[in-house]
Amino acid sequence: MKELRVTPIKNGTVIDHITPGFALKVLRVLKLPEATSSVVSVAMNVKSRFGKKDIVKIENRELDKREVNKISLIAPKATINIIRDYEVVEKHKVRLPDEIIGIVKCSNPTCISNSREPVESRFILVSKDPPHIKCYYCERETEDIAERII
Ligand code: CTP
Ligand code: ZN
Repeated sequence: MKELRVTPIKNGTVIDHITPGFALKVLRVLKLPEATSSVVSVAMNVKSRFGKKDIVKIENRELDKREVNKISLIAPKATINIIRDYEVVEKHKVRLPDEIIGIVKCSNPTCISNSREPVESRFILVSKDPPHIKCYYCERETEDIAERII
């Protein structure tokens, strides 16, 4: 029998295989729980086939593409499971985009993307796991991505 630490949900989204220790960062970038009235449950350091993982479950809500892109920058191994009537009806791994546009704010105050010009922030992927990104304009590497997600 499978061990169930957090109860299965009826409908909603399970973000699974989050890098252990990163569940709170995932919640922060999704602005949870403040931004929703959904029930949100979190499990950390859960034993899995590949070591440990964190899990976030959001009831009665699905995620948009932008939210999934944000998660990929925090937890590049995460899987997004859509649950309907207790069944997993969709499962996909997050995918880090090669270019990250309008999602992260550059840490360089003099970067053109932080000027009054209407220039959207743009980052290039330097490494995938852990994710490292570099500003397309000023080439500065962003140290703490989770803190700089818009
Ligand atoms: N889950 C849930 N509620 C459900 C169904 C599934 O909370 N009604 C959760 C499971 O606990 C698991 C995730 O959704 O964390 C994915 O479920 P499932 O695909 O059944 O698990 P695995 O086969 O172990 O997934 P994977 O192969 O992606 O590790
Ligand atoms: Zn920059």
